[in-house]
Amino acid sequence: MQLNLPVAVRWAADGRAVELLDQTLLPGREVYLRLETATDVAEAIRSLRVRGAPAIGVAAALGLALEAARHTAAPRDEFLRAFDAAYAELRRARPTAVNLAWAVDHLRRIADSLGAADNGTIACRLYGAATQILDDDIAMCRRMGEHGAALLPEGTVRALTVCNAGALATSGMGTALAPLYHAAAQGRAIEVYACETRPLLQGSRITAWELARAGLPCTVVIDSAAPLLLRDGAIDIVFTGADRIAANGDVANKVGTYSLAVHAARAGVPFYVVAPATTLDPHTATGAGIEIEHRDADEVRRGFGALTAPADTAVYAPAFDVTPAELITGIVTDSGVLRAPYAGGIERAAAALHGAEATR
Ligand code: MRU
Repeated sequence: MQLNLPVAVRWAADGRAVELLDQTLLPGREVYLRLETATDVAEAIRSLRVRGAPAIGVAAALGLALEAARHTAAPRDEFLRAFDAAYAELRRARPTAVNLAWAVDHLRRIADSLGAADNGTIACRLYGAATQILDDDIAMCRRMGEHGAALLPEGTVRALTVCNAGALATSGMGTALAPLYHAAAQGRAIEVYACETRPLLQGSRITAWELARAGLPCTVVIDSAAPLLLRDGAIDIVFTGADRIAANGDVANKVGTYSLAVHAARAGVPFYVVAPATTLDPHTATGAGIEIEHRDADEVRRGFGALTAPADTAVYAPAFDVTPAELITGIVTDSGVLRAPYAGGIERAAAALHGAEATR
């Protein structure tokens, strides 16, 4: 079948802006934003107009390159001040997905290595490097799709996923959804069960929309019912994405992932995490070292504008959780499928892309 996948992040045709599909408006409206400054891109990342670990890394890289290009005619000290400020603002926009930190650090290292080169040369190199990050992400998604599709059982496949780890979370065909897209494109029968993913509903608003557009059947599952599907033998395989994977294979991903892993293990259903090398963090030893973002309490108390809890109630709303490596059947990366023990394998898979610079 022919897949019709949306594009989350791209350069504007004139190369002077970043274009993002505003995911806060889905599934109701499909609106592309034209962002011309790093501050605008940082705001879009903070407010989840663009979201998903690879996509925010790509958007941040494009935003930082854009800011350098905007200041090429400025005196050197002003050019450097603008670059430093944009780097810092983008890097702190969201803390958990390592892709974002890696992408802006990668550009920073390139800028630093160019020393006395003129502003235009630096801006040009940064534009090229950001474009390379975008292109590499597309290629890595494709390879994850191929590696992950080889894990699918025979016959019709019923796959469970959480959040959105599809095209809208990357600049390509996604991470967790890539194996399913790859298999569907080859004529396999694929049925996707998408956890709704409270409180911001990335599963029901974004994944269900993306799958419908791509032409794959999707059932939205209320989060608390996913364990029942696993228990009742209604799911063949679980695929999730990741925001950061520690050196020992512990995985930070959208909150709810841990619960799925526990119930998949209890039910004997294979549980795979799918993530590119840019999500591997060999410098963080275990999941305990991963900073978990907590979102504003009003995302729970005033869900999409309506009062959904007493206005001043306390709220516990981590955006991510950590799934211990022991619950993970395998980690599908762009270079192949890693299995326990992950120590060593994560480092090698990260080094294959980043070389000595790795993630920090
Ligand atoms: O808060 P979000 O929507 O950015 O969270 C995204 C996720 O948790 C995804 O599952 C993860 O980034 C992997 S996406 C390829």
